[in-house]
Amino acid sequence: MTLLVTGCCGFIGSNFVYYYLDEHKDARIIGLDKLTYAGNLDNLSNLTNEQKSRFVFVKGDINNAELVEYLLDVYDIDVIVNFAAESHVDRSIYNPRAFVETNVLGVQTLLDVAKKKWYINGKWKHGKKFVQISTDEVYGTLGPTGKFTEKTPLSPRSPYSASKASADLLVIAHHETYGMPVNITRCSNNYGPYQFPEKLIPLIILNALEHKPLPIYGDGRQVRDWIHVFDHCRAIDFVIEKGKDGEVYNIGANNEWENIELVKKIIEILRQLTNDELISEKLITHVKDRPGHDRRYAIDSTKIRKELGWKPEISFEEGLEATIKWYLNNKQWVERVVGGEYKEWYEKHYVRERKLN
Ligand code: NAD
Ligand code: DAU
Repeated sequence: MTLLVTGCCGFIGSNFVYYYLDEHKDARIIGLDKLTYAGNLDNLSNLTNEQKSRFVFVKGDINNAELVEYLLDVYDIDVIVNFAAESHVDRSIYNPRAFVETNVLGVQTLLDVAKKKWYINGKWKHGKKFVQISTDEVYGTLGPTGKFTEKTPLSPRSPYSASKASADLLVIAHHETYGMPVNITRCSNNYGPYQFPEKLIPLIILNALEHKPLPIYGDGRQVRDWIHVFDHCRAIDFVIEKGKDGEVYNIGANNEWENIELVKKIIEILRQLTNDELISEKLITHVKDRPGHDRRYAIDSTKIRKELGWKPEISFEEGLEATIKWYLNNKQWVERVVGGEYKEWYEKHYVRERKLN
């Protein structure tokens, strides 16, 4: 099996490359990534020599149809797994257009090329598939009860989630209109190694280690449903292998946390691991809320569990501690990603906009 993995140098894409090459000893991966601020080739530096022999990296944009066409031809790609995206909700509030360019037009480009190469005389070539990595955010926000199922109507509320929902609709349209073999996965919040520190968990870990204030948007009572990235990657593998054409699969681990409680938990674990008494709840700082902040997400993943036989394997206790240890043990990686662009983002979003020092 040969996969085209787009966004292979981002957080989930890189974890997926490790997972998939490890799990499938005869698989090859062609990785395509534009290396935006969030893409880091360093994320793949721990591939073994054997894994490197089954991995090809290509720097490029999913909007480059000629390049994608070339890759599908030369490497005889079986499955496109599209992780490439602008992924941060806060950034989408400042600059929605970038999100439309990659998350909508980029997906349309991939669909166009897949159709051009795989749809011959009204028939799809055997064994080909397009897998779109989507998100639970396309469903919008929940009240205190209930969960998102695959039947929940799409109701995105941020430019990011609107762009992801648009892509989902395009993918479904290609299945309905042309019979394209597709799957869509919608996962809840991921955590784990190699996550860029603009996202809540790594941001809190890194700020706490430097005794910097820990920014909590609004009252901090918003709820997210967390899953370890490894379990997400395993679920995608199940979908590639067994997903029924045209189906959407929710992925989640039944692990809801209020942001404020999660931050307190991270502080507690970090304190135990470092014996640093300055890492304390005193660092928690409530700042201006995210506009349009979704209050609660919770995923019902019964369908993938029942129909494909997947279930998560990593408990939150064990996964969160391992993740914190990963950030403690990978200082070089951290130093490299917090330079340049990250500093500018932090200055603009936290210092100037939210008055955090
Ligand atoms: P990320 O921001 O860490 O990585 C995105 C990667 O895509 C980066 O390597 C970036 O360089 C690359 N990229 C961006 N634009 C590109 C383009 N035009 N062409 C080629 N490459 C491009 O994101 P992530 O957290 O790893 O998320 C990956 C996917 O999973 C996204 O589609 C996201 O919507 C989805 N998702 C994320 C989460 C989460 O909790 N992080 C949860 C559910 C779904
Ligand atoms: O649910 C899946 C989604 O999860 C993915 O589709 C997105 O790509 C991913 O970024 C993530 O979106 P969130 O907005 O939920 O993640 P983030 O880490 O940005 O924020 C998690 C929660 O923490 C959210 O309620 C906002 C809050 N938050 C976040 C940051 C960065 C804060 O209170 N302070 C912060 O500084």
